[in-house]
Amino acid sequence: MTTERSEEETVAYSIENGIAWVKFNRPEKRNCMSPKLNRQMMRVLDELEFDDKVGVLVLSGEGSAWSAGMDLKEYFRENEAKGLGATRKAQSEAYGWWRKLRWYQKPTIAMVNGWCFGGGYGPLHSCDLAFAAEDAQFGLSEINWGILPGGGATKVATNLLNMRNAMYHALMGENIDGKTAAEWGLINEAVPLDKLQGRVTEVANTLLEKNPVALKATKDAIRRVTEMTYDNAEDYLIRAQEAANSYDNEGRKEGIKQFIDDKTYKPGLGAYDKSKQKG
Ligand code: ACO
Repeated sequence: MTTERSEEETVAYSIENGIAWVKFNRPEKRNCMSPKLNRQMMRVLDELEFDDKVGVLVLSGEGSAWSAGMDLKEYFRENEAKGLGATRKAQSEAYGWWRKLRWYQKPTIAMVNGWCFGGGYGPLHSCDLAFAAEDAQFGLSEINWGILPGGGATKVATNLLNMRNAMYHALMGENIDGKTAAEWGLINEAVPLDKLQGRVTEVANTLLEKNPVALKATKDAIRRVTEMTYDNAEDYLIRAQEAANSYDNEGRKEGIKQFIDDKTYKPGLGAYDKSKQKG
């Protein structure tokens, strides 16, 4: 691509059978995150969040990269040249969509098809689940060009990895492949690239069968209780369940009924049939 991509073209998406497939779409720049891409991603996420056709959102990348991190030219150099205001604005645009994704209304899955560097760890961690190609490459490459892993990347590393692996990863600037990323807990699972979309579709379809109010309450609870004491978590979870009941008071009753009275399913083996739910 010789001409520069318009802001709208930096993100691509389609909706199929309840799944929104959203893609970083700057393959010629290995999907690094420019201010344009960050602004467009926020628009796309806003548009899809309350769309009834969307039950699960998958974030992947066009071409050989998932995302090569922040755009060193357009995000760092050009904004630094303009001064503090421009840098802070660019940070707020990037961190803003990562935050939206962390607390997104629908379950989210990172489908890491290739390179994933530095700032890419922000959206990687924002997605509830992460699946990667076995050959995908993950790196905190910041140290290789002379900065610390900022923009949340250090926090992501210490949230998801043990201290020794986080330290080695951040200090050495060596990449790990999808298989090692799964062993280290950075992602859920690595599969061969040609099986990646199939596996993610399978996971998304399972999520689509679940009660959506319970899914949102559960994903938020997992993130919130991580930082709470046991007693605070216990209290939060009681209140979270009661709050969820105020929006969906019939789901769990239907779930119990189909098991205990109708004997049409077993909760230990799968989800109840949502289509029979009243209200
Ligand atoms: N910022 C700006 N431009 C980038 C970035 C980036 N993060 N990553 C790739 N590009 C550009 C290249 O400059 C090149 O542009 P050009 O065609 O105008 O010369 C184009 O994308 C293609 O990149 P290549 O390096 O030619 O692609 P290749 O497939 O050989 O290598 C790789 C891919 C390994 C991802 C390499 O591009 C790379 O090292 N990128 C930087 C990764 C990185 O360290 N990112 C920053 C992390 S730190 C942070 O995000 C805060």
